[in-house]
Formats: sequence, C-alpha cells, structure tokens
Amino acid sequence: MPTSPQDSITINDTPYNLQELETLAWKKLVNGSVKKKNGFRTMCVGTINENNTAALRIVVNRKVDEVNKTVYFHTDNRSRKCYDLQKDNRISLLFYDARQRVQIVVKAHAALHTNDALSNDRWKATSPQARLGYMTLEPPNTKSNHPTLGYEERFSTLKPTDIESDLFQENFTVVACAVYELEFLYLDFTGNRKANFFYENSVLQDSFWAVP
Ligand SMILES: Cc1cc2nc3c(=O)[nH]c(=O)nc-3n(C[C@H](O)[C@H](O)[C@H](O)COP(=O)(O)O)c2cc1C
Repeated sequence: MPTSPQDSITINDTPYNLQELETLAWKKLVNGSVKKKNGFRTMCVGTINENNTAALRIVVNRKVDEVNKTVYFHTDNRSRKCYDLQKDNRISLLFYDARQRVQIVVKAHAALHTNDALSNDRWKATSPQARLGYMTLEPPNTKSNHPTLGYEERFSTLKPTDIESDLFQENFTVVACAVYELEFLYLDFTGNRKANFFYENSVLQDSFWAVP
C-alpha cells in the first residue's frame, strides 16, 4: 500500500509542519543576531551594482524583528553597497550554519537609516572599537598607495573617545531589510528538504514545500 505523503519534516527529533518551520526559521535568525558564536551571526549580502552584476559581502546580523519580518545590519553609507541600494533597494541575504545544516536565503527591500532616531540609537550602543569602521577619512574602497587603515594611525593602539568618534557618526547607517521571500533548506542524511515562504507587508501570503 502506498504511504501517504508526509506533511512535516523532522529536525533534531522534532517534527515541523510548514507553519512551524516558518516560526523555526525566524527563531534561528533571531538567535543569530543575539548569539555571537551562532552560525547565523553573519550573512552574505547581495546587491545589484552599476554593471548589473551581483555584488556580495559578509556583514554582521545585528537584529531580527520576527514580527515585522525585518533583518538589520550596520554599514558605512559611503560604501558600495549603499550606493547600490540607493539605486535599487532590492537586497538578498544568505545565511548558512554548517553545524545546524540549515541554509536560509531571504529577499528583501532595504531602507537606509542615516542621522535619524534609529541610527542615533544604534550608534550610542556601539563600542569605540566598532566605531573605527566608520572613521575612515576616505570612503571605503578608495585606492591607497600603501596598506592603509583608512583612519588615523594612532587608533591602531588607542581607542577613540566618544567625542572623536562622534565626528564620524554621519557615516553610520542602519540598513533595515523588509523580507518578502524566505527560502529554508535543511540538509539531512536521509534526504534534503526545502520550503519557501512569501510575505506582503510583513504578513505571510503563501508557503509551500519545494524540491531541494
Ligand atoms: C566577518 C565579517 C563581518 C563583517 N561585518 C560587516 C558589517 O557588519 N558591516 C559592514 O559594512 N561590513 C562588514 N564587513 C566588511 C564587508 O564584508 C565589506 O568588505 C565592506 O562592508 C565593504 O563592502 P562594499 O564595498 O561591498 O559595500 C565584514 C566582513 C567580515 C569578513
């Protein structure tokens, strides 16, 4: 007798139907944003550059709002990714944790927050060391005749003070990525499983299992 197709998958001895898997996916992204050693702590960010080519780089997953389906990261607004996003705000975020054997790919619309309440709040919570990333005298990726730090050499041994670093706050941007698609892939010894989820204005509109 043929067995009826299953409507759930098992991960670490726990069964998940589509709805439960969606909740799990967001929980994993939230964990990545709060746990430093979690595999989802970093993500690969894809933008579309001026040559219509995919441009990729790793950033830190700073915050995940599972209710509003939004993922946040911090960057320098003089960077190429910001230039790309100002022209086309479509963004892709790729997460993979080899330990969990889970890949999550999201597609989102990015909103750039510079010199506003959100960026001001996040800047205040940023350490002097982390602020160095925004303290380069020339924009990131500017050509240099020597292997430059970009910021003043003395900061290689000295932490900048609040006053010194605040001069560069205008370079600091929080990127809010409002997710409209999420793809979950689980690599399992007994066979891989995939599911896709689609959102409109943070509300789940459609979901289905897919061929991995
Ligand atoms: C582990 C890791 C974490 C990083 N985190 C960030 C980050 O949170 N924000 C950021 O702007 N760049 C981060 N970077 C640097 C970027 O990968 C990239 O080199 C830089 O942002 C310039 O990118 P762009 O010129 O494509 O805009 C990180 C790099 C690595 C390897």
